[in-house]
Amino acid sequence: MTEQQPLLKTTDLRKHFGGLVAVDNVSLEVYSGEVVGLVGDNGAGKSTLIKMISGVYHPDGGKIFLEGQEVHFGTPMEARRQGIETIYQDLALCENLDATVNIFLGREPMRRQLGLLNVVDRKHMLAESETVLSQLDIHIPNLQRPMRQMSGGQRQAVAIARAVYWNARLMIMDEPTAALAVSEQRKVYELVHTLREQNVPVIIISHNLQDVFAVSDRIVIMRRGRKVGERMTKETTSDEIVSLMIGVASAAESKGSTAA
Ligand SMILES: Nc1ncnc2c1ncn2[C@@H]1O[C@H](COP(=O)(O)OP(=O)(O)OP(=O)(O)O)[C@@H](O)[C@H]1O
Ligand SMILES: [Mg+2]
Repeated sequence: MTEQQPLLKTTDLRKHFGGLVAVDNVSLEVYSGEVVGLVGDNGAGKSTLIKMISGVYHPDGGKIFLEGQEVHFGTPMEARRQGIETIYQDLALCENLDATVNIFLGREPMRRQLGLLNVVDRKHMLAESETVLSQLDIHIPNLQRPMRQMSGGQRQAVAIARAVYWNARLMIMDEPTAALAVSEQRKVYELVHTLREQNVPVIIISHNLQDVFAVSDRIVIMRRGRKVGERMTKETTSDEIVSLMIGVASAAESKGSTAA
Protein backbone atom coordinates (compact mmCIF):
# COMPACT_ATOMS: atom_id res chain seq x y z
CA MET A 1 0.00 0.00 0.00
CA THR A 2 2.98 2.30 -0.38
CA GLU A 3 3.82 3.86 -3.74
CA GLN A 4 0.85 2.51 -5.65
CA GLN A 5 -1.51 5.11 -7.12
CA PRO A 6 -4.66 5.56 -5.06
CA LEU A 7 -7.88 4.60 -6.80
CA LEU A 8 -9.61 7.56 -5.18
CA LYS A 9 -8.03 10.71 -3.95
CA THR A 10 -9.64 13.86 -2.66
CA THR A 11 -7.76 17.04 -1.93
CA ASP A 12 -9.14 19.73 0.37
CA LEU A 13 -12.77 18.85 -0.30
CA ARG A 14 -15.08 21.38 1.20
CA LYS A 15 -18.83 21.83 1.53
CA HIS A 16 -20.85 24.32 3.45
CA PHE A 17 -24.54 24.72 4.04
CA GLY A 18 -25.10 28.41 4.62
CA GLY A 19 -22.74 29.35 7.42
CA LEU A 20 -22.13 25.77 8.51
CA VAL A 21 -18.99 24.14 7.19
CA ALA A 22 -20.08 20.50 6.93
CA VAL A 23 -16.83 19.27 5.34
CA ASP A 24 -13.69 21.26 5.91
CA ASN A 25 -10.77 20.64 3.55
CA VAL A 26 -10.75 16.86 3.69
CA SER A 27 -7.99 15.04 1.82
CA LEU A 28 -8.34 11.30 1.58
CA GLU A 29 -6.86 8.41 -0.36
CA VAL A 30 -8.34 5.00 -0.98
CA TYR A 31 -6.30 2.20 -2.51
CA SER A 32 -7.37 -0.78 -4.53
CA GLY A 33 -8.50 -3.70 -2.40
CA GLU A 34 -8.72 -1.96 0.94
CA VAL A 35 -11.67 -1.40 3.21
CA VAL A 36 -11.67 2.03 4.80
CA GLY A 37 -13.88 2.68 7.81
CA LEU A 38 -15.08 6.28 8.00
CA VAL A 39 -16.10 7.20 11.52
CA GLY A 40 -17.16 10.25 13.47
CA ASP A 41 -19.89 11.48 15.72
CA ASN A 42 -23.32 12.53 14.44
CA GLY A 43 -22.96 15.54 12.19
CA ALA A 44 -19.21 15.09 11.71
CA GLY A 45 -19.61 15.39 7.94
CA LYS A 46 -19.27 11.76 6.86
CA SER A 47 -22.38 11.59 4.69
CA THR A 48 -21.70 14.99 3.17
CA LEU A 49 -18.18 13.89 2.27
CA ILE A 50 -19.28 10.72 0.52
CA LYS A 51 -22.11 12.55 -1.23
CA MET A 52 -19.52 14.77 -2.89
CA ILE A 53 -17.58 11.70 -3.99
CA SER A 54 -20.72 10.11 -5.39
CA GLY A 55 -22.05 13.12 -7.25
CA VAL A 56 -24.98 14.06 -5.00
CA TYR A 57 -23.38 17.32 -3.88
CA HIS A 58 -21.04 19.59 -5.76
CA PRO A 59 -18.01 20.49 -3.67
CA ASP A 60 -17.50 24.15 -2.78
CA GLY A 61 -13.79 23.56 -2.95
CA GLY A 62 -11.21 20.88 -3.50
CA LYS A 63 -10.75 18.14 -6.07
CA ILE A 64 -11.62 14.51 -6.64
CA PHE A 65 -9.34 12.18 -8.59
CA LEU A 66 -10.07 8.68 -9.85
CA GLU A 67 -6.91 6.78 -10.74
CA GLY A 68 -5.07 10.07 -10.96
CA GLN A 69 -7.59 11.81 -13.21
CA GLU A 70 -9.63 14.67 -11.93
CA VAL A 71 -13.37 14.03 -12.12
CA HIS A 72 -16.44 16.24 -11.83
CA PHE A 73 -19.71 14.49 -11.24
CA GLY A 74 -22.83 16.44 -12.14
CA THR A 75 -25.15 13.70 -10.90
CA PRO A 76 -24.98 10.40 -9.00
CA MET A 77 -25.57 8.63 -12.31
CA GLU A 78 -22.37 10.12 -13.70
CA ALA A 79 -20.47 8.82 -10.69
CA ARG A 80 -22.02 5.38 -11.18
CA ARG A 81 -20.99 5.39 -14.82
CA GLN A 82 -17.43 5.94 -13.61
CA GLY A 83 -17.74 2.97 -11.30
CA ILE A 84 -18.63 4.56 -7.99
CA GLU A 85 -21.51 2.68 -6.42
CA THR A 86 -23.05 4.05 -3.27
CA ILE A 87 -25.46 2.75 -0.70
CA TYR A 88 -26.85 5.84 0.99
CA GLN A 89 -27.93 6.12 4.56
CA ASP A 90 -31.09 7.94 3.60
CA LEU A 91 -31.92 6.88 0.07
CA ALA A 92 -31.03 3.43 -1.05
CA LEU A 93 -33.19 1.90 -3.72
CA CYS A 94 -36.39 2.56 -5.56
CA GLU A 95 -38.89 1.09 -3.18
CA ASN A 96 -41.71 0.56 -5.61
CA LEU A 97 -39.55 -1.18 -8.20
CA ASP A 98 -38.31 -4.74 -8.07
CA ALA A 99 -34.78 -6.04 -7.48
CA THR A 100 -33.98 -6.63 -11.15
CA VAL A 101 -34.95 -3.09 -12.06
CA ASN A 102 -32.87 -1.75 -9.21
CA ILE A 103 -29.83 -3.70 -10.35
CA PHE A 104 -30.16 -2.22 -13.82
CA LEU A 105 -31.43 1.21 -12.85
CA GLY A 106 -30.54 3.75 -15.52
CA ARG A 107 -28.74 1.11 -17.58
CA GLU A 108 -31.60 -1.10 -18.67
CA PRO A 109 -30.87 -3.41 -21.60
CA MET A 110 -33.16 -2.79 -24.55
CA ARG A 111 -34.47 -5.12 -27.18
CA ARG A 112 -36.38 -4.52 -30.34
CA GLN A 113 -39.98 -5.54 -30.51
CA LEU A 114 -41.69 -6.10 -33.84
CA GLY A 115 -38.52 -4.75 -35.39
CA LEU A 116 -39.57 -1.26 -34.37
CA LEU A 117 -40.00 -0.48 -30.74
CA ASN A 118 -37.18 -0.48 -28.26
CA VAL A 119 -38.41 -2.06 -25.07
CA VAL A 120 -36.67 -2.95 -21.83
CA ASP A 121 -35.47 -6.53 -21.91
CA ARG A 122 -36.94 -7.83 -18.65
CA LYS A 123 -36.09 -11.45 -19.32
CA HIS A 124 -32.43 -10.61 -19.70
CA MET A 125 -32.54 -8.48 -16.56
CA LEU A 126 -34.06 -11.29 -14.54
CA ALA A 127 -31.60 -13.89 -15.78
CA GLU A 128 -28.60 -11.65 -15.15
CA SER A 129 -29.88 -10.64 -11.72
CA GLU A 130 -30.35 -14.29 -10.75
CA THR A 131 -26.82 -15.08 -11.89
CA VAL A 132 -25.10 -12.30 -10.01
CA LEU A 133 -27.10 -12.90 -6.82
CA SER A 134 -26.29 -16.60 -6.85
CA GLN A 135 -22.61 -15.83 -7.46
CA LEU A 136 -22.75 -13.82 -4.27
CA ASP A 137 -24.62 -16.60 -2.51
CA ILE A 138 -27.62 -14.37 -1.95
CA HIS A 139 -31.01 -16.03 -2.00
CA ILE A 140 -33.99 -13.80 -2.56
CA PRO A 141 -37.24 -15.54 -3.30
CA ASN A 142 -39.15 -13.80 -6.07
CA LEU A 143 -36.97 -11.05 -7.42
CA GLN A 144 -39.94 -9.40 -9.02
CA ARG A 145 -41.47 -8.18 -5.80
CA PRO A 146 -41.23 -4.45 -5.03
CA MET A 147 -38.18 -3.65 -2.90
CA ARG A 148 -40.35 -2.34 -0.09
CA GLN A 149 -41.48 -5.90 0.60
CA MET A 150 -37.91 -7.03 1.16
CA SER A 151 -35.95 -7.11 4.38
CA GLY A 152 -33.19 -4.62 5.09
CA GLY A 153 -30.56 -7.27 4.44
CA GLN A 154 -32.08 -8.22 1.12
CA ARG A 155 -32.08 -4.56 0.09
CA GLN A 156 -28.42 -4.16 0.96
CA ALA A 157 -27.68 -7.34 -0.89
CA VAL A 158 -29.41 -6.04 -4.01
CA ALA A 159 -27.37 -2.83 -3.82
CA ILE A 160 -24.16 -4.82 -3.47
CA ALA A 161 -25.18 -7.11 -6.32
CA ARG A 162 -25.63 -4.01 -8.46
CA ALA A 163 -22.11 -2.90 -7.62
CA VAL A 164 -20.65 -6.30 -8.46
CA TYR A 165 -22.63 -6.70 -11.65
CA TRP A 166 -21.49 -3.35 -13.00
CA ASN A 167 -17.87 -3.92 -11.97
CA ALA A 168 -17.79 -1.06 -9.51
CA ARG A 169 -14.39 0.50 -9.03
CA LEU A 170 -15.33 1.79 -5.59
CA MET A 171 -18.13 0.83 -3.25
CA ILE A 172 -19.33 3.36 -0.70
CA MET A 173 -21.64 2.26 2.09
CA ASP A 174 -23.19 4.74 4.50
CA GLU A 175 -24.44 2.88 7.57
CA PRO A 176 -25.35 -0.20 5.56
CA THR A 177 -26.19 -2.32 8.56
CA ALA A 178 -27.87 0.15 10.89
CA ALA A 179 -31.35 -1.23 10.31
CA LEU A 180 -30.43 -4.88 9.96
CA ALA A 181 -30.85 -8.01 12.02
CA VAL A 182 -27.60 -9.54 13.25
CA SER A 183 -27.60 -12.34 10.69
CA GLU A 184 -28.16 -9.83 7.90
CA GLN A 185 -25.36 -7.62 9.20
CA ARG A 186 -23.03 -10.57 9.04
CA LYS A 187 -24.01 -11.18 5.44
CA VAL A 188 -23.27 -7.57 4.50
CA TYR A 189 -19.81 -7.84 6.08
CA GLU A 190 -19.17 -11.08 4.21
CA LEU A 191 -20.06 -9.23 1.02
CA VAL A 192 -17.64 -6.44 1.91
CA HIS A 193 -14.93 -9.08 2.11
CA THR A 194 -16.01 -10.49 -1.23
CA LEU A 195 -15.66 -7.04 -2.77
CA ARG A 196 -12.21 -6.64 -1.28
CA GLU A 197 -11.16 -10.04 -2.62
CA GLN A 198 -12.22 -8.79 -6.03
CA ASN A 199 -9.96 -5.78 -5.44
CA VAL A 200 -12.88 -3.37 -5.18
CA PRO A 201 -12.13 -0.93 -2.39
CA VAL A 202 -14.89 -0.11 0.04
CA ILE A 203 -15.53 2.98 2.13
CA ILE A 204 -17.83 2.03 4.94
CA ILE A 205 -19.42 4.45 7.39
CA SER A 206 -20.62 2.95 10.63
CA HIS A 207 -21.38 4.01 14.16
CA ASN A 208 -20.61 0.52 15.33
CA LEU A 209 -16.90 0.57 16.09
CA GLN A 210 -16.78 -3.14 16.76
CA ASP A 211 -17.96 -3.73 13.22
CA VAL A 212 -15.56 -1.16 11.82
CA PHE A 213 -12.71 -2.96 13.54
CA ALA A 214 -13.92 -6.31 12.24
CA VAL A 215 -14.23 -5.26 8.62
CA SER A 216 -11.73 -2.46 7.86
CA ASP A 217 -8.04 -2.24 7.04
CA ARG A 218 -7.81 1.42 7.83
CA ILE A 219 -9.92 3.89 9.78
CA VAL A 220 -10.41 7.57 8.93
CA ILE A 221 -11.77 9.73 11.72
CA MET A 222 -13.78 12.94 11.23
CA ARG A 223 -14.81 15.53 13.73
CA ARG A 224 -16.81 18.69 13.00
CA GLY A 225 -16.15 18.51 9.29
CA ARG A 226 -12.45 17.83 9.55
CA LYS A 227 -10.41 14.74 9.14
CA VAL A 228 -8.69 14.48 12.47
CA GLY A 229 -6.77 11.30 11.98
CA GLU A 230 -6.32 8.00 10.23
CA ARG A 231 -5.01 4.75 11.56
CA MET A 232 -4.27 1.27 10.34
CA THR A 233 -6.94 -0.83 12.04
CA LYS A 234 -4.39 -3.30 13.32
CA GLU A 235 -2.36 -0.56 14.94
CA THR A 236 -5.06 1.19 16.92
CA THR A 237 -7.65 0.58 19.61
CA SER A 238 -11.25 1.63 19.95
CA ASP A 239 -10.23 3.87 22.86
CA GLU A 240 -7.91 5.78 20.58
CA ILE A 241 -10.54 6.06 17.84
CA VAL A 242 -13.17 7.27 20.30
CA SER A 243 -10.88 9.94 21.73
CA LEU A 244 -10.18 11.19 18.21
CA MET A 245 -13.91 11.18 17.42
CA ILE A 246 -14.92 13.16 20.46
CA GLY A 247 -11.83 15.33 20.54
CA VAL A 248 -10.48 14.43 23.93
CA ALA A 249 -7.07 16.03 24.01
CA SER A 250 -4.93 12.98 24.38
CA ALA A 251 -1.75 11.36 23.27
CA ALA A 252 -3.80 9.95 20.42
CA GLU A 253 -3.97 13.21 18.58
CA SER A 254 -0.33 14.16 18.69
CA LYS A 255 0.76 10.67 17.69
CA GLY A 256 1.19 10.73 13.94
CA SER A 257 -2.21 12.18 13.28
CA THR A 258 -2.82 13.76 9.91
CA ALA A 259 -5.12 16.38 11.38
CA ALA A 260 -5.40 19.54 9.33
N1 LIG B 1 -28.69 19.20 3.17
C1 LIG B 1 -28.21 19.83 4.26
N2 LIG B 1 -28.57 21.10 4.55
C2 LIG B 1 -28.08 21.75 5.62
N3 LIG B 1 -27.23 21.19 6.50
C3 LIG B 1 -26.85 19.93 6.29
C4 LIG B 1 -27.33 19.18 5.17
N4 LIG B 1 -26.76 17.94 5.21
C5 LIG B 1 -26.01 17.93 6.29
N5 LIG B 1 -26.04 19.10 6.95
C6 LIG B 1 -25.28 19.46 8.15
O1 LIG B 1 -23.91 19.20 7.89
C7 LIG B 1 -23.29 18.60 9.00
C8 LIG B 1 -22.72 17.26 8.58
O2 LIG B 1 -23.78 16.37 8.32
P1 LIG B 1 -23.57 14.89 7.80
O3 LIG B 1 -24.91 14.37 7.45
O4 LIG B 1 -22.53 14.90 6.75
O5 LIG B 1 -23.01 14.20 9.13
P2 LIG B 1 -22.71 12.63 9.39
O6 LIG B 1 -21.31 12.57 9.87
O7 LIG B 1 -23.10 11.82 8.24
O8 LIG B 1 -23.68 12.37 10.64
P3 LIG B 1 -24.50 11.03 11.03
O9 LIG B 1 -23.50 10.13 11.67
O10 LIG B 1 -25.50 11.53 12.02
O11 LIG B 1 -25.11 10.47 9.80
C9 LIG B 1 -24.34 18.51 10.09
O12 LIG B 1 -24.19 19.60 10.95
C10 LIG B 1 -25.64 18.58 9.33
O13 LIG B 1 -26.64 19.13 10.11
MG1 LIG C 1 -24.53 10.40 7.92
